Amino acid sequence: MGVFASTDDPDATGHEQVVFCQDKQTGLKAIIGIYSTALGPALGGTRFYPYASEEAALADVLDLSRGMAYKNALAGLDLGGGKAVIWGDPEQIKSEALLRAYGRFVQSLGGRYYTACDVGTYVPDMDVIARETRYVTGRSVEHGGAGDSSILTAWGVFQGMRAAAEQVWGVPTLHGRRVGVAGLGKVGKYLVGHLLDDGAEVVATDVNPRALEWARTTHPQVTLVDDTSALVAADIDVYAPCALGGALNDDTVAVLRAKVIAGAANNQLAHPGVEKLLADRGILYAPDYVVNAGGVIQVADEIEGFDFERAKLRATGIYDTTREILRLAEADGIPPAVAADRLAERRMAEVGRLRTIHLR
Ligand SMILES: NC(=O)c1ccc[n+]([C@@H]2O[C@H](COP(=O)([O-])OP(=O)(O)OC[C@H]3O[C@@H](n4cnc5c(N)ncnc54)[C@H](O)[C@@H]3O)[C@@H](O)[C@H]2O)c1
Repeated sequence: MGVFASTDDPDATGHEQVVFCQDKQTGLKAIIGIYSTALGPALGGTRFYPYASEEAALADVLDLSRGMAYKNALAGLDLGGGKAVIWGDPEQIKSEALLRAYGRFVQSLGGRYYTACDVGTYVPDMDVIARETRYVTGRSVEHGGAGDSSILTAWGVFQGMRAAAEQVWGVPTLHGRRVGVAGLGKVGKYLVGHLLDDGAEVVATDVNPRALEWARTTHPQVTLVDDTSALVAADIDVYAPCALGGALNDDTVAVLRAKVIAGAANNQLAHPGVEKLLADRGILYAPDYVVNAGGVIQVADEIEGFDFERAKLRATGIYDTTREILRLAEADGIPPAVAADRLAERRMAEVGRLRTIHLR
Protein backbone atom coordinates (compact mmCIF):
# COMPACT_ATOMS: atom_id res chain seq x y z
CA MET A 1 0.00 0.00 0.00
CA GLY A 2 2.80 2.39 0.85
CA VAL A 3 4.49 4.52 -1.75
CA PHE A 4 7.72 5.15 0.11
CA ALA A 5 7.97 1.61 1.56
CA SER A 6 5.61 -1.11 2.72
CA THR A 7 2.97 -0.07 5.28
CA ASP A 8 -0.09 -1.28 7.13
CA ASP A 9 -3.41 -1.24 5.32
CA PRO A 10 -5.23 2.08 5.94
CA ASP A 11 -8.47 0.57 4.55
CA ALA A 12 -8.93 -1.10 7.91
CA THR A 13 -9.35 2.27 9.65
CA GLY A 14 -12.43 3.57 7.84
CA HIS A 15 -10.73 6.61 6.36
CA GLU A 16 -12.18 8.14 3.21
CA GLN A 17 -8.88 8.93 1.58
CA VAL A 18 -5.17 8.63 2.33
CA VAL A 19 -2.85 10.39 -0.08
CA PHE A 20 0.90 9.82 -0.34
CA CYS A 21 2.79 12.77 -1.80
CA GLN A 22 6.42 12.78 -2.87
CA ASP A 23 8.78 15.30 -4.44
CA LYS A 24 12.26 13.87 -4.66
CA GLN A 25 14.03 17.15 -5.48
CA THR A 26 12.95 18.86 -2.27
CA GLY A 27 12.87 15.67 -0.17
CA LEU A 28 9.14 16.04 0.49
CA LYS A 29 7.40 12.92 1.72
CA ALA A 30 3.93 13.70 3.03
CA ILE A 31 0.81 11.73 3.86
CA ILE A 32 -2.57 13.47 3.94
CA GLY A 33 -5.26 11.57 5.81
CA ILE A 34 -8.92 12.41 5.32
CA TYR A 35 -11.02 10.53 7.84
CA SER A 36 -14.39 12.08 7.07
CA THR A 37 -15.92 14.87 5.00
CA ALA A 38 -19.45 14.12 6.22
CA LEU A 39 -19.71 17.58 7.79
CA GLY A 40 -17.61 19.50 5.26
CA PRO A 41 -14.01 19.79 4.06
CA ALA A 42 -11.57 17.98 6.34
CA LEU A 43 -9.60 20.39 8.57
CA GLY A 44 -6.47 19.53 10.51
CA GLY A 45 -2.89 20.68 10.81
CA THR A 46 0.32 19.44 9.21
CA ARG A 47 2.77 17.73 11.56
CA PHE A 48 6.40 17.95 10.37
CA TYR A 49 8.27 15.30 12.30
CA PRO A 50 11.25 12.91 11.89
CA TYR A 51 9.28 9.69 12.23
CA ALA A 52 11.32 6.53 12.70
CA SER A 53 9.56 4.86 9.78
CA GLU A 54 6.88 5.31 7.16
CA GLU A 55 4.67 3.00 9.22
CA ALA A 56 4.97 5.35 12.20
CA ALA A 57 4.12 8.37 10.03
CA LEU A 58 1.10 6.59 8.58
CA ALA A 59 -0.12 5.40 11.98
CA ASP A 60 0.11 8.96 13.31
CA VAL A 61 -1.76 10.57 10.43
CA LEU A 62 -4.53 7.98 10.59
CA ASP A 63 -4.91 8.47 14.32
CA LEU A 64 -4.73 12.27 14.24
CA SER A 65 -7.12 12.69 11.29
CA ARG A 66 -9.74 10.53 12.99
CA GLY A 67 -9.34 12.59 16.15
CA MET A 68 -9.89 15.81 14.18
CA ALA A 69 -13.19 14.50 12.79
CA TYR A 70 -14.49 14.01 16.34
CA LYS A 71 -13.08 17.33 17.58
CA ASN A 72 -14.50 19.34 14.68
CA ALA A 73 -17.88 17.61 14.98
CA LEU A 74 -18.24 18.46 18.67
CA ALA A 75 -16.97 21.99 18.12
CA GLY A 76 -20.09 22.47 15.98
CA LEU A 77 -18.06 23.19 12.86
CA ASP A 78 -19.17 22.46 9.31
CA LEU A 79 -15.85 20.73 8.80
CA GLY A 80 -14.75 17.14 8.61
CA GLY A 81 -11.59 15.62 9.99
CA GLY A 82 -8.19 15.37 8.36
CA LYS A 83 -4.53 15.75 9.16
CA ALA A 84 -1.24 15.58 7.33
CA VAL A 85 2.26 14.54 8.24
CA ILE A 86 5.50 15.48 6.55
CA TRP A 87 8.04 12.78 7.27
CA GLY A 88 11.48 14.28 7.96
CA ASP A 89 13.41 16.55 10.28
CA PRO A 90 12.14 20.11 9.80
CA GLU A 91 15.50 21.44 11.03
CA GLN A 92 17.24 19.66 8.14
CA ILE A 93 14.85 19.71 5.21
CA LYS A 94 12.24 22.44 5.63
CA SER A 95 12.56 24.89 2.73
CA GLU A 96 10.41 27.24 0.69
CA ALA A 97 10.40 24.79 -2.21
CA LEU A 98 9.43 21.82 -0.02
CA LEU A 99 6.55 23.71 1.61
CA ARG A 100 5.34 24.97 -1.76
CA ALA A 101 5.52 21.46 -3.24
CA TYR A 102 3.41 20.32 -0.31
CA GLY A 103 1.00 23.21 -0.92
CA ARG A 104 0.48 22.04 -4.50
CA PHE A 105 -0.52 18.58 -3.26
CA VAL A 106 -3.00 20.17 -0.84
CA GLN A 107 -4.39 22.23 -3.74
CA SER A 108 -4.69 19.08 -5.86
CA LEU A 109 -7.35 17.80 -3.44
CA GLY A 110 -9.60 20.64 -4.61
CA GLY A 111 -10.72 21.75 -1.14
CA ARG A 112 -11.43 18.33 0.36
CA TYR A 113 -8.68 19.10 2.90
CA TYR A 114 -7.72 22.36 4.66
CA THR A 115 -4.35 22.43 6.37
CA ALA A 116 -3.07 24.46 9.35
CA CYS A 117 -0.19 24.47 11.87
CA ASP A 118 0.77 21.55 14.07
CA VAL A 119 3.96 20.30 15.72
CA GLY A 120 6.89 21.41 13.54
CA THR A 121 4.93 23.86 11.38
CA TYR A 122 4.32 27.51 12.15
CA VAL A 123 2.32 30.51 10.98
CA PRO A 124 5.03 31.72 8.52
CA ASP A 125 5.05 28.21 6.99
CA MET A 126 1.31 28.51 6.33
CA ASP A 127 1.95 31.77 4.49
CA VAL A 128 4.45 29.94 2.25
CA ILE A 129 2.08 27.01 1.65
CA ALA A 130 -0.65 29.55 0.80
CA ARG A 131 1.35 30.69 -2.22
CA GLU A 132 0.33 27.38 -3.81
CA THR A 133 -3.07 26.63 -2.31
CA ARG A 134 -6.22 28.36 -1.14
CA TYR A 135 -6.91 25.56 1.32
CA VAL A 136 -4.78 26.69 4.23
CA THR A 137 -5.66 28.46 7.46
CA GLY A 138 -3.77 29.52 10.60
CA ARG A 139 -2.05 32.28 8.63
CA SER A 140 -0.36 35.45 9.83
CA VAL A 141 -2.41 38.48 10.81
CA GLU A 142 -0.91 40.39 7.84
CA HIS A 143 -2.46 37.76 5.57
CA GLY A 144 -5.89 37.83 7.20
CA GLY A 145 -4.97 35.16 9.72
CA ALA A 146 -6.27 34.76 13.24
CA GLY A 147 -2.92 34.87 15.04
CA ASP A 148 -2.23 33.05 18.31
CA SER A 149 -4.73 30.17 18.69
CA SER A 150 -3.80 29.56 22.32
CA ILE A 151 -5.93 32.56 23.39
CA LEU A 152 -9.21 30.87 22.48
CA THR A 153 -7.90 27.42 23.41
CA ALA A 154 -7.42 28.66 26.98
CA TRP A 155 -10.82 30.36 26.94
CA GLY A 156 -12.47 27.12 25.81
CA VAL A 157 -10.67 25.04 28.45
CA PHE A 158 -11.90 27.49 31.08
CA GLN A 159 -15.48 27.11 29.79
CA GLY A 160 -15.24 23.32 29.85
CA MET A 161 -13.85 23.48 33.38
CA ARG A 162 -16.78 25.65 34.48
CA ALA A 163 -19.21 23.05 33.13
CA ALA A 164 -17.38 20.27 35.00
CA ALA A 165 -17.38 22.35 38.21
CA GLU A 166 -21.12 22.79 37.86
CA GLN A 167 -21.62 19.06 37.46
CA VAL A 168 -19.62 18.29 40.61
CA TRP A 169 -20.26 21.27 42.91
CA GLY A 170 -23.51 22.67 41.48
CA VAL A 171 -22.15 26.07 40.41
CA PRO A 172 -20.39 26.95 37.10
CA THR A 173 -17.45 28.72 38.66
CA LEU A 174 -13.98 27.94 39.96
CA HIS A 175 -14.36 30.53 42.69
CA GLY A 176 -12.79 29.25 45.89
CA ARG A 177 -11.42 26.07 44.22
CA ARG A 178 -7.78 25.06 44.09
CA VAL A 179 -6.80 24.41 40.49
CA GLY A 180 -3.52 22.69 39.58
CA VAL A 181 -2.10 23.74 36.21
CA ALA A 182 0.68 21.54 34.76
CA GLY A 183 2.42 23.50 32.00
CA LEU A 184 2.64 27.29 31.86
CA GLY A 185 3.12 27.52 28.12
CA LYS A 186 1.07 29.46 25.60
CA VAL A 187 -2.26 28.01 26.78
CA GLY A 188 -1.43 27.52 30.47
CA LYS A 189 -0.53 31.18 30.92
CA TYR A 190 -3.86 32.45 29.61
CA LEU A 191 -5.72 29.79 31.59
CA VAL A 192 -4.11 30.92 34.84
CA GLY A 193 -5.36 34.46 34.11
CA HIS A 194 -8.96 33.27 33.63
CA LEU A 195 -8.82 31.16 36.78
CA LEU A 196 -7.51 34.00 38.94
CA ASP A 197 -10.13 36.37 37.49
CA ASP A 198 -12.78 33.83 38.47
CA GLY A 199 -11.53 33.74 42.06
CA ALA A 200 -9.72 30.39 41.97
CA GLU A 201 -6.55 29.60 43.86
CA VAL A 202 -3.88 28.35 41.43
CA VAL A 203 -1.11 25.83 42.04
CA ALA A 204 1.21 25.35 39.06
CA THR A 205 4.35 23.75 37.72
CA ASP A 206 6.53 23.77 34.61
CA VAL A 207 9.88 22.26 33.64
CA ASN A 208 10.99 25.51 32.06
CA PRO A 209 12.55 28.01 34.53
CA ARG A 210 11.44 30.92 32.31
CA ALA A 211 7.80 29.86 32.65
CA LEU A 212 8.19 29.71 36.44
CA GLU A 213 9.79 33.16 36.44
CA TRP A 214 6.83 34.46 34.41
CA ALA A 215 4.47 33.12 37.08
CA ARG A 216 6.49 34.61 39.96
CA THR A 217 6.53 38.07 38.43
CA THR A 218 3.10 38.20 36.76
CA HIS A 219 1.01 36.31 39.33
CA PRO A 220 2.88 36.16 42.65
CA GLN A 221 -0.23 34.69 44.31
CA VAL A 222 0.22 31.44 42.33
CA THR A 223 1.75 28.61 44.38
CA LEU A 224 4.55 26.87 42.45
CA VAL A 225 5.42 23.23 43.09
CA ASP A 226 8.49 21.25 42.00
CA ASP A 227 7.01 18.98 39.37
CA THR A 228 3.88 17.32 38.02
CA SER A 229 4.09 14.47 40.56
CA ALA A 230 3.94 17.02 43.38
CA LEU A 231 1.06 18.81 41.67
CA VAL A 232 -0.96 15.63 41.16
CA ALA A 233 -0.48 14.64 44.82
CA ALA A 234 -1.28 18.16 46.08
CA ASP A 235 -4.55 19.11 47.74
CA ILE A 236 -6.25 20.39 44.56
CA ASP A 237 -9.89 20.32 43.45
CA VAL A 238 -9.20 20.50 39.71
CA TYR A 239 -6.27 19.20 37.65
CA ALA A 240 -5.53 20.95 34.34
CA PRO A 241 -2.91 19.10 32.24
CA CYS A 242 -1.55 21.75 29.87
CA ALA A 243 1.83 20.26 28.89
CA LEU A 244 2.25 16.99 26.98
CA GLY A 245 -0.03 14.05 26.19
CA GLY A 246 -0.38 10.92 28.33
CA ALA A 247 -0.76 12.91 31.58
CA LEU A 248 -3.39 10.50 32.91
CA ASN A 249 -1.93 7.05 33.49
CA ASP A 250 -2.39 4.32 36.11
CA ASP A 251 0.11 5.98 38.47
CA THR A 252 -1.31 9.52 38.32
CA VAL A 253 -4.91 8.36 38.58
CA ALA A 254 -4.04 6.33 41.70
CA VAL A 255 -2.72 9.36 43.62
CA LEU A 256 -4.75 12.21 42.13
CA ARG A 257 -6.72 14.14 44.75
CA ALA A 258 -8.64 16.38 42.34
CA LYS A 259 -12.32 15.69 41.67
CA VAL A 260 -12.25 17.27 38.20
CA ILE A 261 -9.83 17.06 35.27
CA ALA A 262 -10.02 19.65 32.50
CA GLY A 263 -6.96 20.77 30.57
CA ALA A 264 -5.58 21.72 27.19
CA ALA A 265 -3.16 18.87 26.50
CA ASN A 266 -4.06 16.53 23.64
CA ASN A 267 -4.41 12.77 24.21
CA GLN A 268 -4.41 12.98 28.01
CA LEU A 269 -5.52 9.37 28.52
CA ALA A 270 -2.33 7.30 28.35
CA HIS A 271 -4.21 4.18 27.28
CA PRO A 272 -7.79 3.02 26.71
CA GLY A 273 -9.27 2.11 30.05
CA VAL A 274 -7.92 5.11 32.00
CA GLU A 275 -11.33 6.79 31.65
CA LYS A 276 -12.82 3.82 33.52
CA LEU A 277 -10.18 4.08 36.30
CA LEU A 278 -11.06 7.76 36.69
CA ALA A 279 -14.77 7.01 36.84
CA ASP A 280 -14.15 4.29 39.44
CA ARG A 281 -12.30 6.81 41.62
CA GLY A 282 -15.13 9.34 41.24
CA ILE A 283 -13.00 11.78 39.25
CA LEU A 284 -14.84 13.70 36.53
CA TYR A 285 -12.83 13.89 33.31
CA ALA A 286 -13.84 16.58 30.82
CA PRO A 287 -12.61 15.03 27.53
CA ASP A 288 -9.53 16.81 26.20
CA TYR A 289 -10.65 17.10 22.60
CA VAL A 290 -13.91 18.74 23.69
CA VAL A 291 -12.45 21.38 26.00
CA ASN A 292 -9.37 22.21 23.90
CA ALA A 293 -11.29 22.90 20.67
CA GLY A 294 -10.96 26.70 20.98
CA GLY A 295 -7.86 26.67 18.77
CA VAL A 296 -9.49 24.82 15.91
CA ILE A 297 -12.57 27.02 16.28
CA GLN A 298 -10.26 30.01 15.81
CA VAL A 299 -8.51 28.72 12.68
CA ALA A 300 -11.84 27.49 11.25
CA ASP A 301 -13.28 30.98 11.67
CA GLU A 302 -10.41 32.32 9.57
CA ILE A 303 -11.73 30.39 6.56
CA GLU A 304 -14.77 32.74 6.62
CA GLY A 305 -12.62 35.86 7.26
CA PHE A 306 -11.55 36.09 10.89
CA ASP A 307 -13.79 37.77 13.43
CA PHE A 308 -12.47 37.41 16.99
CA GLU A 309 -15.79 38.05 18.74
CA ARG A 310 -17.61 35.49 16.57
CA ALA A 311 -14.91 32.90 17.24
CA LYS A 312 -14.90 33.68 20.96
CA LEU A 313 -18.68 33.22 21.09
CA ARG A 314 -18.33 29.81 19.51
CA ALA A 315 -15.50 28.87 21.90
CA THR A 316 -17.74 29.97 24.79
CA GLY A 317 -20.14 27.28 23.55
CA ILE A 318 -17.65 24.68 24.83
CA TYR A 319 -19.36 25.24 28.19
CA ASP A 320 -22.70 23.99 26.78
CA THR A 321 -21.14 21.09 24.87
CA THR A 322 -19.20 19.90 27.92
CA ARG A 323 -22.33 20.16 30.06
CA GLU A 324 -24.32 18.12 27.55
CA ILE A 325 -21.62 15.43 27.46
CA LEU A 326 -21.34 15.21 31.24
CA ARG A 327 -25.12 14.95 31.62
CA LEU A 328 -25.34 12.26 28.95
CA ALA A 329 -22.52 10.37 30.67
CA GLU A 330 -24.33 10.53 34.00
CA ALA A 331 -27.69 9.54 32.52
CA ASP A 332 -26.29 6.58 30.57
CA GLY A 333 -23.78 5.52 33.24
CA ILE A 334 -20.82 5.81 30.85
CA PRO A 335 -17.49 7.68 31.11
CA PRO A 336 -17.59 11.23 29.60
CA ALA A 337 -15.01 10.21 26.97
CA VAL A 338 -17.44 7.58 25.66
CA ALA A 339 -20.36 10.04 25.77
CA ALA A 340 -18.32 12.57 23.78
CA ASP A 341 -17.53 10.00 21.09
CA ARG A 342 -21.21 9.06 20.86
CA LEU A 343 -22.32 12.68 20.44
CA ALA A 344 -19.68 13.32 17.78
CA GLU A 345 -20.68 10.18 15.87
CA ARG A 346 -24.32 11.16 16.13
CA ARG A 347 -23.69 14.61 14.65
CA MET A 348 -21.55 13.17 11.84
CA ALA A 349 -24.31 10.68 11.02
CA GLU A 350 -27.33 12.98 11.39
CA VAL A 351 -25.96 16.13 9.78
CA GLY A 352 -23.76 14.22 7.35
CA ARG A 353 -26.80 12.32 6.08
CA LEU A 354 -28.36 15.59 4.85
CA ARG A 355 -25.88 15.57 1.98
CA THR A 356 -27.85 12.69 0.51
CA ILE A 357 -30.67 15.19 -0.19
CA HIS A 358 -29.83 16.11 -3.73
CA LEU A 359 -29.31 19.77 -4.63
CA ARG A 360 -28.64 21.04 -8.10
N1 LIG B 1 -1.90 26.11 21.51
C1 LIG B 1 -3.10 25.68 21.16
O1 LIG B 1 -3.90 26.40 20.56
C2 LIG B 1 -3.52 24.26 21.52
C3 LIG B 1 -4.75 23.79 21.03
C4 LIG B 1 -5.18 22.51 21.39
C5 LIG B 1 -4.37 21.72 22.21
N2 LIG B 1 -3.16 22.21 22.65
C6 LIG B 1 -2.36 21.33 23.51
O2 LIG B 1 -2.20 21.96 24.77
C7 LIG B 1 -0.91 21.66 25.31
C8 LIG B 1 -0.17 22.96 25.60
O3 LIG B 1 -0.06 23.70 24.40
P1 LIG B 1 0.80 25.05 24.34
O4 LIG B 1 0.50 25.64 23.01
O5 LIG B 1 0.58 25.83 25.58
O6 LIG B 1 2.25 24.43 24.32
P2 LIG B 1 3.61 25.11 24.86
O7 LIG B 1 4.71 24.31 24.27
O8 LIG B 1 3.58 26.59 24.66
O9 LIG B 1 3.53 24.87 26.44
C9 LIG B 1 3.75 23.64 27.06
C10 LIG B 1 4.40 23.94 28.41
O10 LIG B 1 4.50 22.72 29.14
C11 LIG B 1 5.77 22.69 29.78
N3 LIG B 1 6.11 21.30 30.05
C12 LIG B 1 6.62 20.36 29.21
N4 LIG B 1 6.81 19.20 29.86
C13 LIG B 1 6.39 19.40 31.15
C14 LIG B 1 6.32 18.58 32.29
N5 LIG B 1 6.72 17.30 32.27
N6 LIG B 1 5.85 19.11 33.44
C15 LIG B 1 5.44 20.41 33.48
N7 LIG B 1 5.49 21.24 32.42
C16 LIG B 1 5.95 20.75 31.26
C17 LIG B 1 6.70 23.39 28.81
O11 LIG B 1 7.88 23.84 29.44
C18 LIG B 1 5.81 24.51 28.30
O12 LIG B 1 5.95 25.67 29.10
C19 LIG B 1 -0.22 20.76 24.28
O13 LIG B 1 -0.46 19.41 24.62
C20 LIG B 1 -0.96 21.10 22.99
O14 LIG B 1 -0.93 20.02 22.07
C21 LIG B 1 -2.74 23.46 22.34
